Amino acid sequence: MQPLPIAIGADHGGVDLKRQLVAALQAAGHQVSDVGTDGTESVDYPDFARPVADAVISGAARFGVLVCGSGIGMAIAANRNPGIRAAVLHNATEARLTRAHNDANIACLGGRTTGVEVAIDSLLTFLSTPYEGGRHDRRIAKIEKATP
Ligand code: RB5
Repeated sequence: MQPLPIAIGADHGGVDLKRQLVAALQAAGHQVSDVGTDGTESVDYPDFARPVADAVISGAARFGVLVCGSGIGMAIAANRNPGIRAAVLHNATEARLTRAHNDANIACLGGRTTGVEVAIDSLLTFLSTPYEGGRHDRRIAKIEKATP
């Protein structure tokens, strides 16, 4: 697939998986912008969700990737930003469906819940699956209208 600009961030619960996802993304030819964190010191996941969401909203990144212990806190934080549709991925099926139906633009993964091979498969599927449009446009428009 064509190389994409991708922003990625993690907290201490996701930093190990983030390292492996960065390597996989680079091996696939993508341009990765890593906002941290880079170590295992305890940090707050909203501080990393925000710059990744900003990169996607501005167009600096086509997609975002956020990793925390479960992926859930990152998704909650990212989804507070209008225009962001962040989905927690546990497998490639969820990755395919959330791109095809929800036009998700940030993939969230759990460093404590998802093994590295499943995480990489899920993420690469997310990046390569097109949005289907059609009836889904109406539903996404309703979400965007409801966002304050
Ligand atoms: C950090 O301990 C943990 O709460 C965080 O990584 C994440 O799982 C929150 O949703």
